[in-house]
Amino acid sequence: MNIVLQPGQHYEGGEPGDSPSPPGRVKQEGVDTTHGAILYLEDITVSFDGFKALNKLNLDISVGELRCIIGPNGAGKTTMMDVITGKTRPGSGTAWFGQTIDLTRMTEYDIAHAGIGRKFQRPTVFEQHTVFENLELAMKTNKRVRPTLFFRLSSEQKGKIDEILKLIRLRGEETRLAGLLSHGQKQWLEIGMLLMQEPQLLLLDEPVAGMSDAETARTAELLNELRGKHSIVVVEHDMAFVTEIAQGDKVTVLHEGSVLAEGSMQQVQADERVIEVYLGR
Ligand SMILES: Nc1ncnc2c1ncn2[C@@H]1O[C@H](COP(=O)(O)OP(=O)(O)OP(=O)(O)O)[C@@H](O)[C@H]1O
Ligand SMILES: [Mg+2]
Repeated sequence: MNIVLQPGQHYEGGEPGDSPSPPGRVKQEGVDTTHGAILYLEDITVSFDGFKALNKLNLDISVGELRCIIGPNGAGKTTMMDVITGKTRPGSGTAWFGQTIDLTRMTEYDIAHAGIGRKFQRPTVFEQHTVFENLELAMKTNKRVRPTLFFRLSSEQKGKIDEILKLIRLRGEETRLAGLLSHGQKQWLEIGMLLMQEPQLLLLDEPVAGMSDAETARTAELLNELRGKHSIVVVEHDMAFVTEIAQGDKVTVLHEGSVLAEGSMQQVQADERVIEVYLGR
């Protein structure tokens, strides 16, 4: 490769397809959202042995948006999250985090530290630690908090933990071992751990799967409290839950690796194509 830089130009990383790729276009000052977009996927294609799990997928998420993504099994919803978090490299297409960060050139680790938090379906909390310790551990792994040998929580940090405890409905449970929590409480704790990392973008894959109706309702409340404070992408099959959190916001329907429909919940529910492939079954 022969690169000639002009004055004022900067070389921004390796060749497309390099693996593991260099942290190409990360700006130290963080994600640049001057144009209002936190995430911008364009023409993303992912093939598994010739099968296109994603097929020229386009998706645009604004800063502070709460976007629900629905669609039948195998539509490519989880694969889309895998691309955003660097777990899967797209065969083609671009994925931008803000204006300047090219996600397709970064490692999973660098993407997490650039500010994208992801919740998988199964809760992954430290079962042998208390609720409080789980949140404290999450804070310690936050790159923005300078790690020291004798880490002591400042009153500001304790305040932050308390605020999260309240949000995730676990105030009063802070000394309980995480392993003793209900499935729903573990899910909330994991969301709290992600929030301790102060993500710019939060990805939740089927957060209410396996929850009781009461837990699902409380999760909807929780997400409504986060509305506008974080940019969030939620994948769910539970339509009552999606209706509860989508409110008037845009919902995206994925089918066979691309966007089938996009609009308010009311609009997509009335869309013949959506009824045919998903809602009508
Ligand atoms: N690593 C892989 N190797 C081969 N095929 C894969 C791989 N990962 C996903 N797929 C296929 O890609 C398609 C999309 O899968 P994906 O998990 O993204 O769907 P989804 O929309 O999340 O579905 P669900 O609602 O069931 O979670 C499926 O047909 C799946 O079998
Ligand atoms: Mg999935």
